[in-house]
Formats: sequence, C-alpha cells, structure tokens
Amino acid sequence: MRALDHNLWVAEQPLKYLGLEVGTRMTVVRLSSQALAVISPIALNSELKQQLARIGTVEHIISPNLYHYLYAADFKYAYPTATFWAAPGLQEKKPNLPIDKVIQANSSPLWNDLEGLYFEDFKTLSPGGFDALNEWVFFHAASRTLILTDTAFHFDNSFPFVTKLLTRVTGDYQKLAPSVFERIATTDKQSVKETVEKILSWDFERVVMAHGSIVEEDAKRKLEKDYSSFFR
Ligand SMILES: [Fe+2]
Repeated sequence: MRALDHNLWVAEQPLKYLGLEVGTRMTVVRLSSQALAVISPIALNSELKQQLARIGTVEHIISPNLYHYLYAADFKYAYPTATFWAAPGLQEKKPNLPIDKVIQANSSPLWNDLEGLYFEDFKTLSPGGFDALNEWVFFHAASRTLILTDTAFHFDNSFPFVTKLLTRVTGDYQKLAPSVFERIATTDKQSVKETVEKILSWDFERVVMAHGSIVEEDAKRKLEKDYSSFFR
C-alpha cells in the first residue's frame, strides 16, 4: 500500500483479463471520522491487513460496480462490523455476497467526505457479452482526486509489451478513457456524456483508476480530451 495524499492510499496487485496483464488497484480513503473506506478491494493478505491497521479501521467496503466484488466478501469476513456497500444490481447478480447496503445518492456516511456519481447506461465487455457496468465513481475533494474503477483505463509505458501492443492497435494506449470494448458496448452515449459533464464539474487534479497508471497532474484536462473519442 502506498500513500498518494493525506488520507488517501492505493494498493495494487497483478491481474490478467482476457490473457492481458492489466493489474488492479484498490483505493483507501480515511474519512474524517477516521474510518477507512476501501474502494474496489483487492486480495486481502496479512501484510495488507497490517498496513490497513496502521492507518485506521476498515468500516466501509465498497464494490463500486458489477465486476469489482471478487475480494469484497473476504474483507467483510475479516472486518465483520464494516458496511459492505454494493453497486445497484450486484445483490441480484451475486445473491450470496454479504452485502449490507446499495450505494445511493443519500448513502451517508460515505458522502461526508466523498461525492459520488452513478454511470447508469455504461456497458462493458464481459465473458457473457456486453453487460451493464453500474459504476459509482467518487470524488475526494480534500485531495482533489477522482476515483474511477472501470469507466476509464490508462495503459502506459509501465505495462508489459503485449498490453502496450494491443492497446496501441485498439487506440487505447496512454488514453485516460474507456477501452474499445466499452465504446462498442455502450449505446446510450448521451447518458454517459451527461455523467461525464457532471464529473468534469468537480475540481480534480488526479485520477485513480483500477487498471492503468494513476494520472497525478492535470488529469481533468486529460480525461476530457481522451474521453471525447468515446462520444464520436
Ligand atoms: Fe475492472
């Protein structure tokens, strides 16, 4: 786990998707109550547990979309008093998950330190075809950070050769934007555009996403520019 800013950390692990190394990342926010909120949990091991214990108590476990839930149940079993927040539709998709609450616009206490927006009509490529993503994205105003999961990627020079090659072919290399699969899968681009416009009204400098390199500076301008190809 590494600190990005005051009350903001990330932890990463390797992940292959469709044979491609894309990595995955969890974001940890310490709320003003000192509680920790973990967004898009990764595999929990004893080292990560110790690191988390040093900075606070895990009280919120967030599966922000219909795909980033794989390790959320392990977190819930490790931190049984924490609230497991899930994206709309996840309970129906995975009935056995120990979900406590569905993330909603009035989901206090999350919204004391974070703002959120919901991507209703965004679709993604899954093993079963094109499916809804149902992603909530978050803005941590204190660190001017936008926290995305699968609604933008950013594969750059730090990724393996094959990942770079394939993303160059699809036009996704070094783009802070959805991939070619989301561009094809998402048909209601107007709805997504409206959400992106609201996101761009937030005053962020940094973007953290689940798959790709964090953009530390001027990320809002880059997101606006790179996302424009999604609407063409
Ligand atoms: Fe993902």
